[in-house]
Amino acid sequence: MKKILILNGPNLNLLGTREPAQYGSTTLAEVESFCKIHGERMGYEVECLQSNWEGALIDKLHDYGHMFKAGKVLGVVFNPGALTHTSIALHDAIKGLEPMPVIECHISNVHARESFRHHSWVSPAAAGIVVGFGVDGYLIAMDGLVRKCVNPVATQKP
Ligand code: DQA
Repeated sequence: MKKILILNGPNLNLLGTREPAQYGSTTLAEVESFCKIHGERMGYEVECLQSNWEGALIDKLHDYGHMFKAGKVLGVVFNPGALTHTSIALHDAIKGLEPMPVIECHISNVHARESFRHHSWVSPAAAGIVVGFGVDGYLIAMDGLVRKCVNPVATQKP
């Protein structure tokens, strides 16, 4: 069974209580649990990691890059939190692990918020981007990853 990584960056451990008007009231544990169930239904093993440390996120991406080369990984769904807007190191990590697909995911619509959230260093390296669907975005990103890698509509018969 191939693996999907659900990776979350700084402050996403506070989901459920952090700015609920922006991020909703679902906790990270609940998000991770429904991602696992959703992944298993699609035939994937789901691993989840949240870290407030940029280096820990990069190390985890590197681990998955090795496993991807060995054919054990489908890809990554990644909400980098505020590091989205600051981290060239995350951009370089994702570029350095190509062709492993990384789907960037944001709970809120970052483009409808402060201007400092409009730029993402991760987006140019991402295989796809999901923004503004609340925590459902993680499942949409997982679906997108599977569609992109395994079952694109162009390969389906009507
Ligand atoms: C976020 C958006 C970022 O701008 C913010 O810093 C976060 C969460 C989101 O999921 O909407 O921490 O990535």
